Amino acid sequence: MSQSVDALFRPWDFKGLNLANRIVMAPMTRSKSPGQVPGPEVAAYYRRRVEGGTGLIITEGTTVDHPVASNDLNVPAFHGKAALDGWAHVVSEVHAAGGKIMPQIWHTGTMRRQGEGPNPDLPSAGPSGLSKPGKKIGEPMTDADIEAAIDAFGRAAADAKRVGFDGVEIHGAHGYLIDTFFWDGTNARTDAFGGDMVKRTRFAADIVRACRAATGPDFPVVLRFSQWKQQDFSARMALTPSELEAFLTPLADAGVDIFHCSNRRFWEPEFEGSDMNLAGWTKKITGKPTITVGSVGLNEDFIAAFKGVPAGVADFGNLVTMFERGDFDLVGVGRALLVDPEWANKIRDGRLSELKPYAAEALAFLS
Ligand SMILES: Cc1cc2nc3c(=O)[nH]c(=O)nc-3n(C[C@H](O)[C@H](O)[C@H](O)COP(=O)(O)O)c2cc1C
Repeated sequence: MSQSVDALFRPWDFKGLNLANRIVMAPMTRSKSPGQVPGPEVAAYYRRRVEGGTGLIITEGTTVDHPVASNDLNVPAFHGKAALDGWAHVVSEVHAAGGKIMPQIWHTGTMRRQGEGPNPDLPSAGPSGLSKPGKKIGEPMTDADIEAAIDAFGRAAADAKRVGFDGVEIHGAHGYLIDTFFWDGTNARTDAFGGDMVKRTRFAADIVRACRAATGPDFPVVLRFSQWKQQDFSARMALTPSELEAFLTPLADAGVDIFHCSNRRFWEPEFEGSDMNLAGWTKKITGKPTITVGSVGLNEDFIAAFKGVPAGVADFGNLVTMFERGDFDLVGVGRALLVDPEWANKIRDGRLSELKPYAAEALAFLS
């Protein structure tokens, strides 16, 4: 590392979160919870990352209690006694090791194909029945569908608090249900949930309000969002800072505490004329804390990884400079923590020769 990383190992307190450092495990789907129930192996998997020095775990996406939220019977649910008991055990293991943890609550929307997941006969849910721009796979959600989905997120947040999690992250990124409301390419509604940028945030803002109402003023509520979509990696919802402001303001007003700004490469400037990334702009516009993410410690992004391209260990570049000048508060780390549960301690201690490259095979075991 060309720069000292000490700053990333300063504690951080926010609404009682009391994190030991700024390293956050990014949410990563594993499909290792048969019957949608996270077992003891899931608890051990997260505990290992805490023992390795990670300050905050954001769990893999875990699906809310809506009939078509899930597209995979091995992805853990966030409802029902068995799954929530499993999560309670995950929380107690993470806490026993001195870590903090939030679930990422998730609805897969039209990324789910009919036939996948727990209710295979039901059609997938999207604001306009589009799986991507111009590709209709079903009917628009009705008002009742929308209400049920919002309610499901609110109940998940209440359960997160009841089970003992330290906050909750709402998955509003990457082309899943919430993001298909954000994106004009998949939201063609003309009611209160579609139209201009502000109206397209309405569904998410209602979810944030439901989560807030279910958990009270002091429970940290994080919203993850991204410009890019799995349906289109080059998609951008906000082309200018003022469009980003139109997008973020209603969400901040609804009660988001922390924005998790999903980038593929953290060092890429979001708009011309400034070297700030999405997290930097989001913090500047909203005044709220932010999490950055994207290829920290690696030289290839995760889309390349899914195509089988390995990634080597990389210098942090300007990460610490960006952090020190206040662009973001926390640093999300994905693949580097998949291959190496001890990654954070190795970085802290300067054990750089022990860092592992990321090989595509890591996806196969996700241990
Ligand atoms: C195997 C795998 C599974 C992922 N699953 C999720 C997920 O469930 N929810 C989510 O928001 N992002 C998911 N992501 C994206 C990561 O959270 C992260 O943003 C991305 O990997 C970039 O970070 P990295 O470059 O440090 O790996 C996943 C990424 C990987 C590699």
